[in-house]
Parts: sequence; structure tokens; C-alpha cells
Amino acid sequence: MSEKQATGPNTDRPELGSGGYSADQFSKALAHLEQWAGSYLGSLEERDVVSKRQPGETLAMLPEHPPESGEGMGLWERVGDELREIVEPGLVHWQSPNFFAYFPCSGSLPGVMGELASAVMNVNGMLWSTSPSATELEMRMVNWCAELFGLPDAFRFDAEGSNGGGCIQGTASEGVLAALCAARKRKVDSGRDRGTMCIYTSTQAHSSIVKAAMVAGLADGPDDHSRVRLIETDANLRMNPEALYESIERDLYAGLTPCLVSTTQGTTSTGAVDPLGEIGALLAAMPSSKRPWLHVDAAWGGVAAACPEFRSLLDGVGHADSLCINPHKWMLTNFDCDLFWVRDRDALTSAMSITPAYLHNEQSDRGGVVDFRDWHVPLGRRMRALKLWWVLRYFGVEGIREHIRNHVRLAWRFEQFVENEPRLRVVFERSLSLVCFLVEGEDGLTMQLIESINARGRVMISHTRVEVPGLGARFVARVAIGASGVCDRHLDLLTEEIGKALEEVLH
Ligand SMILES: Cc1ncc(COP(=O)(O)O)c(C=O)c1O
Repeated sequence: MSEKQATGPNTDRPELGSGGYSADQFSKALAHLEQWAGSYLGSLEERDVVSKRQPGETLAMLPEHPPESGEGMGLWERVGDELREIVEPGLVHWQSPNFFAYFPCSGSLPGVMGELASAVMNVNGMLWSTSPSATELEMRMVNWCAELFGLPDAFRFDAEGSNGGGCIQGTASEGVLAALCAARKRKVDSGRDRGTMCIYTSTQAHSSIVKAAMVAGLADGPDDHSRVRLIETDANLRMNPEALYESIERDLYAGLTPCLVSTTQGTTSTGAVDPLGEIGALLAAMPSSKRPWLHVDAAWGGVAAACPEFRSLLDGVGHADSLCINPHKWMLTNFDCDLFWVRDRDALTSAMSITPAYLHNEQSDRGGVVDFRDWHVPLGRRMRALKLWWVLRYFGVEGIREHIRNHVRLAWRFEQFVENEPRLRVVFERSLSLVCFLVEGEDGLTMQLIESINARGRVMISHTRVEVPGLGARFVARVAIGASGVCDRHLDLLTEEIGKALEEVLH
């Protein structure tokens, strides 16, 4: 860190214009950032995706104590260099088109602009009255997305006779926690004991489902299964509806309370799609007093429902009580943005609402407005709907469909590559834009391959461990196509890197 940075030029102290800074200051600061962003974005494709930083290296570059005097406007002259020297080398470049790990977070220009404008306004839309347009823009976007994904009217705000609606949560993890709280409240209100609640999901569900149970007090830890049932799956890792039903019956017989079932429409490990239609029908046939809440986790896969040809992955969603889909995963919307819908919003708000004197206001007290603070744990909330509004208008429904279809095509192309490479094997059916494969031979070879690819760092992929039919528990490599600018030449680089790693691992 330079001498100048450490002391800071005090000649240009922060001024407090309206909003805390003047328009002139904003544009000067932005000009510096714009320059940095230009060089970052311009070089992204050429960079290694994976960071080579060691633990503690970034910490060592940062002063141990906060500065006594502020740097004022001079700060912006330095931030570009600091981002380049301190921050960028410690990043995994999630926005690189060569990022194929986990599920990518696809950002976009309208996504970034929406974040920026939201930061400038910096409103807290906790109540309708604390920024009516923030709430109503969000309501409209949630309805737009319900239409985009072909959801039943019951989830819309404006559907006749419906009590549905949705909001934007930060993450799908927060969404399922909200669903669990609503489900439990409904059961408690019908006379069931809080201590008897059980939840059901498959062995392949995302860890956020069990974490919700831990946070809500239904489990003492990830391995506490006294109230959490991990239902077995079929050979394709889809939840087994009969096993689910038997588990529910066993609990009912034991005097327990089946509280929530969570299906996954596109699991994290392999993209497996649970038989939601069958599960929904089984639950619908139960007497309502016994029926658990049905939550649908479509955090990743749900975005594909924008394309009519992939919509079957949500077949049966009409039975659901709640559903989440993450535009921040695969819909060109900058992190964070999870869409969360409920069929009965009163069930949710009755679990979440608490109104101290300082939050009372005329419109809420009169009713007829939506206060999103009652839809999740946080009180304060930023205007995430803005980026969604601009993403949807910038790309249009057709643009979003084209984006998804292109990724699915690229994944198909990658699957062909693996199928034609005798040292590799595709495991499980490709799910949308996710391809899972392993190296033929010993289990350890697949991890060695992934490590070799990522150590070189030109591209990044990730792993999981699952039961592979005929082979037992195996490490599996995952290639998830989902970065915003990914196209055929990036896939060529990926296959080239896999080829090099295969040579290294198999000599
Ligand atoms: C199927 C599924 N559900 C939930 C999550 C959790 O997402 P979030 O980070 O929004 O909590 C993920 C993350 O990858 C996921 O794949």
C-alpha cells in the first residue's frame, strides 16, 4: 500500500450533498470505476478463472487498522489499481465464460445497471409505505415471472379468488426457511404440537433444506434425523414417491406431524428432477388436516421453464404451496435474486409478521397493501426488482429463451464430446445444461482430473459424490453451462483442457 494511501489526501474531504454526495462527485467517482470495469471486462475471457492466492495472502495486503482520516475523492483515483493488485488476483472469475463449476451466476448489463440504480436510491422497502414503488414494482415483476415460467394463476397477486403472490428473497435458502416457518405455523394453528414437526426431502436435496430445519429448530445438526427424513431416490436420483408416502404414514402413525415436503426440480449434484406431479397428487389425496406443505425448490432448473419445451420440469407445480426459482443462477440477473411464490400468503405472513409501535402506519393498518417485511426474516430490504425489470426488458422473453436454449445446446455438444472419449463416461442423463461424467477406472481418477484442470486454471469445473448405478458411491465431475457469454469457442477450450488433464492423469 502506498504512502499516499496510508495517510490519505485530506484536501478533498467527502461532501454531504443530497444523498450524501453531489451529482458531480458521483460522475467523477463513476468515471474511475468505469475505466476499471472496462479493463476488467475486456480481459475477463483471457484470464485464468481460478485464483492462485494462498490463505492469508490477501489479508497481508490490507492494513490491520481502519484509517484515521478519510481519503475523500482522492480514493477513486486509487481504487482501479487496488482492485487490480489486491482484489482481482484473489477472485475466482465467476463472470468468465470459462466458468463451468457449481451453478454459474449469470450477470448482465441490465443486471449491473439495476444494482447501481438501486444503490443510488438506497431505499428500504420494508413496508409499502416506506417506498410504494419498490413494493409495487416487485409485485409486478413477480407476476411477470409467474407468466414467464408458466406458473398456475394461484401464485399470482391478481388472480381472482387467489391469495397467492410472491416476493424476491436474497437466496433460495431463505425461501425454504420462510416456507418451513409458514408450514409449521399452519400446523400449530390447527392444534399440532411444535415438537412433533417432521420434514421430508430427498437424499439429493440441496443442503439448504436441512439447514432450514436446523435454523428453525427441527434438527440439532446435519446428521440429526429425528425430525428430518431424507427420502431414497431411484437410479436417476429422483425422489421415490412411494418411499415418501410410507415415511409420512409411519410418522402419522407415531403421532408426529408431517409438516413440509420439499421436492427439487433440478438437483445441485446431477440436475435430477423429482416426480413433482406424482408427489403432489399423493399429498393432495391426503386429508387436509394431515397434509404437509409442499415446497418446490427449482432454484436452478426452474429458469428453464421460461422455454415451453422445458416446462414439464415443473409439471405438478399446481399442487405446491410454495416455489422458488433463482434468476441469479441462470437468468442473467446479478446476484442476489431468488423468486419465491406462495399459494396462501396469509399462511406466510402470519408466521413472519410482528408489528412494533414504530412500524405501524396508516396504509398497513387499514390493510390492502403488501408489506414485504412480513415475507421473510429480514426487516430491511433493498430494491432488487429493478434489476429484474431491466433484465426482462433488455432481453425480452425471447432473449431469455435464446440464452437458455443456447446453453442447453452447448451442454448437448459437451455430452457428445464425453460420449466420444473412451476414457470418460457420461453418468446420468444430461439435465438441461448440466453434464456429469467420470473417468473410467478407479474412483480417485475423476478427482485427479478435476484438480488437474482447475490447477491449470484456464477453465473451472466442480465435483460431487453420488451413487452411480453399477459403480456405487463415486466422485463425479460436473460441467454446468450457465455463464452469460459462454459460446462454442469456450467449450473448445474446455474440451482441450480436459484432454490435457487426461494425458496428465492417465500418463
Ligand atoms: C437446487 C438448489 N437449491 C438451493 C440452492 C441454494 O441456493 P441459494 O444460494 O440461493 O440459497 C442451490 C444452490 O446451488 C441449488 O442448486
